[in-house]
Amino acid sequence: MTMDTSEIFLKNCWYVAAWGHELVDGAKLARTILEKPVVMYRGESGKVVALDDRCCHRGAPLSMGRIEGDDLRCMYHGMKFNTSGKCIQIPGQDLIPPKLGVTSYPVVERDHLVWIWMGDPAKADPALILDYPPLSDPKWKGLPGYMHYDANWLYIVDNLADFAHLAFVHTKSLGGSEEYAYKTRHIAIERLPRSFKVERWNKDDDAPPYHKRVISDKSARVDRRNMAQMHIPGIFFMETMFAPAGAADSGNYEGARQYRNCQYMTPETRRTTHFFWNYLHDFDTGNPNITLSLYNSMVEGFLEDKALIEGQQRLMDADPDFKMLAIGADAALSHFRWTLAKLIKEEQREAQPLAA
Ligand code: FES
Ligand SMILES: [Fe+2]
Repeated sequence: MTMDTSEIFLKNCWYVAAWGHELVDGAKLARTILEKPVVMYRGESGKVVALDDRCCHRGAPLSMGRIEGDDLRCMYHGMKFNTSGKCIQIPGQDLIPPKLGVTSYPVVERDHLVWIWMGDPAKADPALILDYPPLSDPKWKGLPGYMHYDANWLYIVDNLADFAHLAFVHTKSLGGSEEYAYKTRHIAIERLPRSFKVERWNKDDDAPPYHKRVISDKSARVDRRNMAQMHIPGIFFMETMFAPAGAADSGNYEGARQYRNCQYMTPETRRTTHFFWNYLHDFDTGNPNITLSLYNSMVEGFLEDKALIEGQQRLMDADPDFKMLAIGADAALSHFRWTLAKLIKEEQREAQPLAA
């Protein structure tokens, strides 16, 4: 892969950079995002700041620096930077060139997530952030998770775009049986300008292992509905419902249990990814064992995905000329990849209006 970075990432959009709880107790979180080293910290006022992690003087990591108020001091030669990255002090030197400083990135903390904008700061409109209300609604309980992938983020997007893989990758965790792949079909795929939606019903089946672990009526047959949306640049929301078998046809969902799931894929580099997620439940919310069991089941399931996807990345690295083949189940992910490529091209064109 020899492409220039600017051609592979969409820059003018919000990415999840951290969970809010990662920035406590004076943490200076060094995290590479879209191949840029960034340091994030919470200033004493509570404001979250994101700066280039590389000091403009000799390139020392600012993540090894010291938080002073809302500012950050490089602990190599002591230069101090404010929240907008401007150098405001050079020990032993009175004159500070007005333009001296490091890049500062727009950040917004919302629903326990820290969002970052890596593109043109003038376009960083917080209204463009995709909220996920269950994350801050007490009706839903879940635990925030993070995982690092040695794979390009689009392989994870591909994986989430298709429920058929539940049957084979997650037979013993999230899926249940291989039958799921044969018996169920996407009943709807909606292609939208910056996203797609898929819906899939699986009727009259055993509950999958992860759900069985948190319910008492383990042998009851269930109708399962998964409804998912994948948004640019790699944001996944899914509603899952397990209703007593027959509910899908009768329309009576009494006794249904529901889950809400968000997953955020943020490119670290072109071949590594930050993966943030939460899997929330709306039943027995007073029982933390259920929340924990679901969290552990998701980790188990995601490790199954990770092994497979990282294997895919290794094989792609070994032969970058390999061309993937599309089957019917790939309609949603093909739409997503096409849309993203189009948006990146448009962004490039806007950034270089004079280029041929
Ligand atoms: S490298 Fe940061 S002050 Fe010298
Ligand atoms: Fe999976």
